[in-house]
Amino acid sequence: MLELRDATYRYAGYANPAIHDVSLRLDDGEIVGLVGANEAGKSTICLVACGLAPASVGGGLEGSLTIDGEPMKGRPVHELAERVGIAFQDPATQRSGIAATVFEEVALGPMNLGLPARETIARVREALARLRIEDLAGRDPARLSGGQGQLVAIASLLAMRPRHIVLDEPTAQLDPEGTRLVATALRDLAAGGTALLIVEHKADLLDGLCGRVAVVAEGRIVADGPTATILADERLAGWGVEPPSRVRLARALAARGLDPAVVGAAS
Ligand SMILES: Nc1ncnc2c1ncn2[C@@H]1O[C@H](COP(=O)(O)OP(=O)(O)OP(=O)(O)O)[C@@H](O)[C@H]1O
Ligand SMILES: [Mg+2]
Repeated sequence: MLELRDATYRYAGYANPAIHDVSLRLDDGEIVGLVGANEAGKSTICLVACGLAPASVGGGLEGSLTIDGEPMKGRPVHELAERVGIAFQDPATQRSGIAATVFEEVALGPMNLGLPARETIARVREALARLRIEDLAGRDPARLSGGQGQLVAIASLLAMRPRHIVLDEPTAQLDPEGTRLVATALRDLAAGGTALLIVEHKADLLDGLCGRVAVVAEGRIVADGPTATILADERLAGWGVEPPSRVRLARALAARGLDPAVVGAAS
């Protein structure tokens, strides 16, 4: 379980907080979506939820981050990294820069956890296989496409097997097949008890993946509830979020006097 309570965070050197009074709870096995317009504060919430802000990024946090009932204030970065895995918006920023191959890159996390070589190799193989990128194992991590880099970043995360995962737009550069593979891997993780927070602009993906969705606007959580309720909320477009296709279709049908129930959509 991971919980942010009344989190207000300022980047170093800024007077105004980037996020205000954010309270968000992820139970074990739960996948929570986070949506909102550009600059709303989604990435900042990700940084605070994994403890990197302020532990690594600096700045000031009021409120608390609690993981499995323990306050995270003052904990060292390596401890936070074991508890919460994060994949950033831009996979290039996440690459170690020291691994010669994708296999080594994905192995770095488990090795840093001090796992034996046999276990590390097994985890790397499994992570690559889950995302069907075994064929990238021998490639130079610096010479991948954006989508390949994104899958490698997620594989690195899977190989660490953290109990909590924060993903900042993990599928932004992925084609539909890559997006489906990531969704399946995330569902499997959640089924095993991992708690996930996922920032995503693809409402259709969230629709099939998340039990709950929270909306961020101007640094605050303005709505938080069951996925179907939030994604059908009339205010969604005003918050800079495009509703999923089934909701748009239902509205288009309703506007023409047809029964939205024919597409099984929430109104
Ligand atoms: N490193 C930083 N230093 C100072 N201010 C920052 C920093 N990163 C983000 N901000 C500010 O914090 C606010 C929230 O930005 P954030 O990156 O969290 O938004 P976002 O919802 O992730 O946007 P996007 O959809 O574009 O990724 C913005 O006003 C932004 O300018
Ligand atoms: Mg962002």
